[in-house]
Amino acid sequence: EKGTYAHYMLKETDEQPFVIRNIIKEYQDENNNLKLDAAIREAMKKADRIYIIAAGTSYHAGLVGKELLEKLANIPVEVHVASEFSYNMPLLSEKPLFIFLSQSGETADSRAVLVKIKEMGHPALTITNVPGSTLSREADYTLHLYAGPEIAVASTKAYTAQIAVLAILAVDTAKEKGIELSFDLIQELAIVANAMEVLTDQKETMEELARDYLATARNAFFIGRSADYNVCVEGALKLKEVSYIQAEGFAGGELKHGTIALIEEGTPIIALATQENVNYAIRSNVQEVVSRGANAMVISMKGLEQDTDAFVLPHVHEVLTPLVSVVPLQLLAYYAALQLDRDVDKPRNLAKSVTVE
Ligand code: M6R
Repeated sequence: EKGTYAHYMLKETDEQPFVIRNIIKEYQDENNNLKLDAAIREAMKKADRIYIIAAGTSYHAGLVGKELLEKLANIPVEVHVASEFSYNMPLLSEKPLFIFLSQSGETADSRAVLVKIKEMGHPALTITNVPGSTLSREADYTLHLYAGPEIAVASTKAYTAQIAVLAILAVDTAKEKGIELSFDLIQELAIVANAMEVLTDQKETMEELARDYLATARNAFFIGRSADYNVCVEGALKLKEVSYIQAEGFAGGELKHGTIALIEEGTPIIALATQENVNYAIRSNVQEVVSRGANAMVISMKGLEQDTDAFVLPHVHEVLTPLVSVVPLQLLAYYAALQLDRDVDKPRNLAKSVTVE
């Protein structure tokens, strides 16, 4: 039920802090240790490479998951768009483990890959919000997102839930492999949940920013480097889907290799700056576009901010920044769509789950 909310998209965006707390509860034992099935731990340890298969927003969550698994658990990971993988399979490693990321668990493109890799005899783990779904039933193992039903076509809380569960999987695998990590994930996720709450309380600011930067825009570009780049592609998809403004996410350094030709007087650029090691570099990319007339909105993280930034995110652990930086992008998309009088929960031409290949 939507309750007092005008749209499911806003309700589901607001639910994200609670979803993160729910995930913490579900994946923790009575001694505050991470809790995962022994069979999943075994499969993670055995794998020499992980192949994440997904579509749309779930694919974007997979890009974040790759970084978490590689950096924390030291396993090589490839992330593939399901519809490409099924017709153009890359060379596989000797002991691959496939992870199917899917909110609905019903995406036909992902299922086609699952059927193929099962025929080849490879193990599969599905991470989904729908326990009895096809992808869950047909895989060897399942991890649940515990996000509650997601009704809006534009995915919000499933994205952050997928990243949180992938972070848990990465940290758990690191522990199982005896890799020492310098932070406590449960504690850091609790900080993330609080930060998300601070963000969802700032709707008026996001509404104003959407009006100032997006409401009259024909197109918009999201730029970021490293972990921020992964969130930029999701921010752009969100904006496209619900507002129909043409939007793209770019790696900060790549824009000047062609796309900068599209920058005109007033073109909105939304830049994320949450990563210390690329803060200087992304700031110079912002300068490059501003000097060509762009209307730049910088969203930075506390500690890295500058006076001219449009919005500053509360500080969270550097590997978990996508969980918070995506929230203002979801809200910007929502308010831009409202201001343009779009059908937010049911954008044209889209269905909640795509069950045809
Ligand atoms: O149910 P799934 O996670 O497998 O769905 C994948 C995509 O169809 C989905 O994320 C789609 O891109 C959303 N409309 C994004 O908001």
